[in-house]
Amino acid sequence: MSNYSSYQSMLRKIADIQYASAVLNWDQETYMPSKGATFRAQQLSTLAGIGHELATSKELGKLLHLLSTDNSLSEKEKRNIKQSLKTFNENKKYTTEFVQELSKTISETFQAWHKAKADNNFAVYAPHLEKLVTLKREESKLLGDFAHPYDALLNQFEPGLKTADLEVLFTDVREQLVTFVKKIAAKPQNNDAFMYLYYDREMQWDLGLNLLKQMGFDFESGRQDASSHPFTTNFSPEDVRITTRINEQDINEMIWSCIHEGGHALYEQGLPSEEYGMPSSEYISLGIHESQSRLWENNVGRSLQYWKANYPKLQDAFPENLKSVSVQSFYKAMNIVKPSLIRTSADELTYHFHVLIRFEIEKALIEGLIEVKDLPSYWNLKYKEYLGIEVPDDSSGVLQDIHWSHGSFGYFPTYSLGSFYAAQFWVQAKKEIEELENEIEKGNMKPLLDWLREKVHRHGKFYSAEELCIEITGEKLNFKYFMDYASIKYSKLYDL
Ligand code: CO
Repeated sequence: MSNYSSYQSMLRKIADIQYASAVLNWDQETYMPSKGATFRAQQLSTLAGIGHELATSKELGKLLHLLSTDNSLSEKEKRNIKQSLKTFNENKKYTTEFVQELSKTISETFQAWHKAKADNNFAVYAPHLEKLVTLKREESKLLGDFAHPYDALLNQFEPGLKTADLEVLFTDVREQLVTFVKKIAAKPQNNDAFMYLYYDREMQWDLGLNLLKQMGFDFESGRQDASSHPFTTNFSPEDVRITTRINEQDINEMIWSCIHEGGHALYEQGLPSEEYGMPSSEYISLGIHESQSRLWENNVGRSLQYWKANYPKLQDAFPENLKSVSVQSFYKAMNIVKPSLIRTSADELTYHFHVLIRFEIEKALIEGLIEVKDLPSYWNLKYKEYLGIEVPDDSSGVLQDIHWSHGSFGYFPTYSLGSFYAAQFWVQAKKEIEELENEIEKGNMKPLLDWLREKVHRHGKFYSAEELCIEITGEKLNFKYFMDYASIKYSKLYDL
């Protein structure tokens, strides 16, 4: 067996362990009975331990060093080795004790968060979160070699992204988007009361499947189930699971979770399955992953063309609610811009203020400028400042997101990056795909999916996020594209 083949079979073994954990995680979120939790945590931790041992083994390290100077490899193989060596070196920085301590603290913090949120009691959560923040500060130190301590954590979700880049990006958000939203707020608001009438669960479910099918979701390589928080996971490019949430009093939840998770799933289904387990079969970064979900959700799903294709189906399913509502009114209703308390139900513009707030708080927390006990008051102050909102209680304030309880600091900014990348890719797609918007209006999503497969999906991790963006659009990420998209669309919607 050649060195490269040995490396491939080792990576595939590690992938088998990781995907087996993913199956257990998926089951935990969807079908597992509540008493299953204790042993499930143990099973997951055992698999994580085996995975960590394999991923840091001497044998793998030796192979990677040999292969990193092997000039007979193809360009793709060389990139795989480079990526794997980077991951290997990062994994080696963690001691088994630290990994176990972190994993245990995360389990405890997650449980405390659950209780704290249900009881509206931040104090239950605070001591656990304090311990977790201390560990994350340590982790940032042990990863070392970054200009800013927050960079090390960002790097886990968005390799190469720096705090300094985000400062620039969010300055644009503050200066341009905040001003633009103020102009919208001065205008009369559109009506969306019909979105909150009674919408039958079964009918919604069938409609969601229909939308997914139209996007090109392959139901022989995936399925949809229900969960309280919509998500996408995969066990290979040939088995991609998404979940949705249905609210019978709000049609928005199903529509946006189906299209959003569908966009994530198309990316996973489009990764090359013959490269299973290799970096060449992995997504680039969370920002790029989110660009795929946001492009489908916002640029496609919140467009008039998309609903010209799909609104008649919705009217047929719910004539009593929508018979007298025109597609124009429906389009206006789904694009209402209004500062709100909860990130996950925010509109596509004020959404980024929620992310900006989390970015500022996380950065200060990791820098040590604020402590966990200061979080609720700091949070409420920022909501007043950026969204003009009084936070009524911690459950719908600082306790609303799951992320920090998982130790995911540095994750939130990738949500905004995703929307900004999507806007930039969308401009390019419209240039390169003939009559793209007309095809969408006919319900034909194939030209767009083929373009995304060609430009993004098939490459796996061959390019970095920045390289991919330049490869597709000729330049680095530029906030201008999002701002142009927003001002053209919303100036029309709000008659600015
Ligand atoms: Co997403």
